[in-house]
Amino acid sequence: MNILVAGGTGYIGSHICVELIEAGHDVVVIDDFSNSRPEVLDSIEKITGTRVKFYEFNILDEEKTENVFKENQLDAVIHCAAFKAVGESVAKPIEYYENNLMTTLIMAKMMKKYQVNSIVFSSSATVYGDPKVVPLTEDCPLGETTNPYGTSKAMMERVLTDVQFANPNMSVTLLRYFNPIGAHESGLIGENPKGIPNNLMPYIMKVATGELPCLGIFGDDYDTPDGTGVRDYIHVVDLAKGHVLAIEKYQEPGVHICNLGTGRGYSVLEIVHAFEKVNHVKVNYEIKERRPGDIATCYADPTRAKEQLGWVAEKTLEDMVRDSWNFLQKKKCFYYGARQASTDLQRRMFGQEIEQKYKIKIQDFQYDTFFNRIRSGDGSKLV
Ligand code: WQD
Repeated sequence: MNILVAGGTGYIGSHICVELIEAGHDVVVIDDFSNSRPEVLDSIEKITGTRVKFYEFNILDEEKTENVFKENQLDAVIHCAAFKAVGESVAKPIEYYENNLMTTLIMAKMMKKYQVNSIVFSSSATVYGDPKVVPLTEDCPLGETTNPYGTSKAMMERVLTDVQFANPNMSVTLLRYFNPIGAHESGLIGENPKGIPNNLMPYIMKVATGELPCLGIFGDDYDTPDGTGVRDYIHVVDLAKGHVLAIEKYQEPGVHICNLGTGRGYSVLEIVHAFEKVNHVKVNYEIKERRPGDIATCYADPTRAKEQLGWVAEKTLEDMVRDSWNFLQKKKCFYYGARQASTDLQRRMFGQEIEQKYKIKIQDFQYDTFFNRIRSGDGSKLV
């Protein structure tokens, strides 16, 4: 099939592109790089040997979005283009509702106009709100969402459900992600958000590399085994494979709703300790106040995905934390390496590696600056 991946250079979108290509599909991508980088296209090509057809713009530009539907015989859409940070959404509701809702409305409008009758929508476990019972099945009530991010996802599910009701030949699939972490085993694609991360794993990674000094754990007084928040962390490659099965198997007209989670919850402290143990690094942390919009516990009952898609999450927590770190080591080894280079010989060897990798010359006087800024936790760009 020829599949449009909206948000296809993002963390989740790029992994979906890789799995689609490897499953034999053609891929068209729209992205505005608001939370990704152009080099992701090169990485997808390095992994798959295929250069995706790419359009750079924000889907809010309706004319350009329509042009993509005109220029390509699309069979289906996977819509991942959305802002996705719970904490940030509490502070920026207007941006979240405008971007997340309007892009979905424009996408639905173009699908109807150009008779593209299949969409897989990147939804989220946050639509369940603060669950009364766990694990969560797809029939659990869509509780009172606790943040604009989750509310925008619930509203988009409603929009697409109503669109499907008015267009009975459409297949609308709502995939409710839990907490995607990890990276492709090549280390070429992974979670690399711009600026200070909102989500747990990218924040842990920046602390481990020295770019940020300390992880703040938002509350240790929840009703959970160790007091910190419990979530269902799922390897992003497992999540991406779930999309391939969903786009291939949910072709029947109708609304298909599916949780993509492992069915196992881990606490923040369990994630931190697993990351330290598997990667032999230290993650400095301190307990802070709870984050507005957060809930105590959320994890999936993934029975339906297994029964209807034949999908089960295969990767372990160790795979997730190892692959996350491997991605960063490939991408940002100079931060990590610089912190570890203590002897002059190590610094020299490490410096040469950087000079070769980035085609730069680190003058002698720069060495102290270079290494001291890393050690001081100043993560600003050094090369
Ligand atoms: C996880 C836990 C925090 C950062 C995510 C995505 C959202 C959606 C649902 C896909 C919580 C704690 C975090 C930090 C911390 N996924 N934390 N310090 O809020 O569960 O939502 O899953 O659609 O897109 O954002 O994920 O990683 O922000 O938080 O203590 O610096 O880690 O309190 O318990 P969340 P998260």
